[in-house]
Amino acid sequence: MDAEVRFVPSEKRVRVTPGTPLLEAAQKAGLPIASGCSANGLCARCGLQVVAGRGSLSDETHTESEAKRVNRVGPELRLACMATVSGDVTITATYW
Ligand code: FES
Repeated sequence: MDAEVRFVPSEKRVRVTPGTPLLEAAQKAGLPIASGCSANGLCARCGLQVVAGRGSLSDETHTESEAKRVNRVGPELRLACMATVSGDVTITATYW
């Protein structure tokens, strides 16, 4: 069953197959997203804030945690190229 990713404040919504990275969902919604490492989990520029449904994202991997630590990204953000969707979730970014 597909999952719905809702983006605020635009209220754009996309349906994706479970396992889809947040980065791909944002691109599907036509939203700009920062990326400096070609989605390799290195730059941490793709950090997004989870408004609701945090449990509907994959667990944070060691690679994601390290990228956040090295790049001084807050624990509240998930890296869009690393976090995959498993259920309905609401996402925002400071620059949207
Ligand atoms: S695009 Fe670089 S860590 Fe996600």
